[in-house]
Amino acid sequence: MAIATSLDVTALRADFPALSRTTAGGTPVIYADAPGGTQVPRSVVEAMGDYLVWHNSNIEGGFAATRETDDMIRAARIDAGHFVGGDPDGIAFGQNMTTLNFSLSRAIGRTLRPGDHIVVTRLDHDANVSPWWILAEDLGLELSIVNVTPELDIDLDNLRATITSRTRVVAYTLASNAVGTVTPARAIADLAHRAGALAVADAVAYAPHRRIDVEALYCDVLLCSPYKFFGPHLGIAWVRPALIPSLRPDRVRPAGMEPPGHRFETGTLSHEAIAGFRAAVSYLAGIGGGEETSEALDRAYSLIGDHERSLARTFLDGIAGVSRIRLHGPAGVDDRVCTFGLAIEGVAPAQAARDLDARGIFAWNGNFYAQGVMQSLGVPLEEGILRLGFAHYATHDEIERCVSALADIAGAPS
Ligand SMILES: Cc1ncc(COP(=O)(O)O)c(C=O)c1O
Repeated sequence: MAIATSLDVTALRADFPALSRTTAGGTPVIYADAPGGTQVPRSVVEAMGDYLVWHNSNIEGGFAATRETDDMIRAARIDAGHFVGGDPDGIAFGQNMTTLNFSLSRAIGRTLRPGDHIVVTRLDHDANVSPWWILAEDLGLELSIVNVTPELDIDLDNLRATITSRTRVVAYTLASNAVGTVTPARAIADLAHRAGALAVADAVAYAPHRRIDVEALYCDVLLCSPYKFFGPHLGIAWVRPALIPSLRPDRVRPAGMEPPGHRFETGTLSHEAIAGFRAAVSYLAGIGGGEETSEALDRAYSLIGDHERSLARTFLDGIAGVSRIRLHGPAGVDDRVCTFGLAIEGVAPAQAARDLDARGIFAWNGNFYAQGVMQSLGVPLEEGILRLGFAHYATHDEIERCVSALADIAGAPS
């Protein structure tokens, strides 16, 4: 197979039925809602349908459909290992990232003692804050919240000053779901490990845009959600296999203990979603081309990154010319993903989202469960901000249409 040197966006868009959607008036819809969940290629829909029609079964039985289900889940763990760049033995599938993180934090909590210390950040989605907060309340642990910088990144100096010899967990995000910042994840993990703490990384907002590599990131736990990277509604956790024997997750007694990541899986999983996840990884690997999944994913994310940086440049240059629009978060294209938090002078975020919808542009308003970001911005939680976020299937024409719609809504010439 020929190896592509740039993303063929026109060709790959044809794989996504949703991208042909139009408004009632025939205007093509623009999906600027990617941080809330991406669209799926046809192959994902087909894989889910194929599983449900031909292989639908529970696990670990003696007949063909159940053996096929076991094989499919085994293969999905290997795919997930490639996807996160880590040992597939550490993979756990679950309902979503939030549910997995509550369960993991409980298991980690069983290794902690009153007076131990947990660190979370103001940049994080609440799914990587509340599980630790509640654990700290329940167990009498100390909890600290690390500040963000004026550019809305995790403040490393504040983190350094916050970590103590009692710190046992540092929970942080790899990318902000609200404003797109990509954080200094390796430096955070190094600081955590120097104190003997676990590094728990939220990759949900990172995974659609950047290649995950748990070894380079040096994290102990990583969580992501396939519905944010072209797959179905599902959560995935990776736990460093060497750590797993020391953890005691909530589980029913008859459930199997192997592979080790399975210990964090409760009840019957969404097998059809796991089949869809496999198709999403194949779709991404297909962008990279070639035979070997990890290398194909490396190449795919390199192409996706180049395209998204170019989209981000077009977007940022475009809104820079509109005086009544203010960008929250990083001004550059290298230290961010293609997610933009915005304020439009005199237009409430909810109104702006409705005005965009009227122009065929799907975008979110709200706090996106990123409470710390909203508090740092001084924005009321019930009001939040406007967020436009793009996946690799977005085009420059779409970005330009978004910029001119925003300028129109702001009442300024673009
Ligand atoms: C950065 C981030 N972390 C965690 C979550 C929660 O993920 P899930 O919906 O899979 O529980 C989200 C959801 O939007 C998110 O954006």
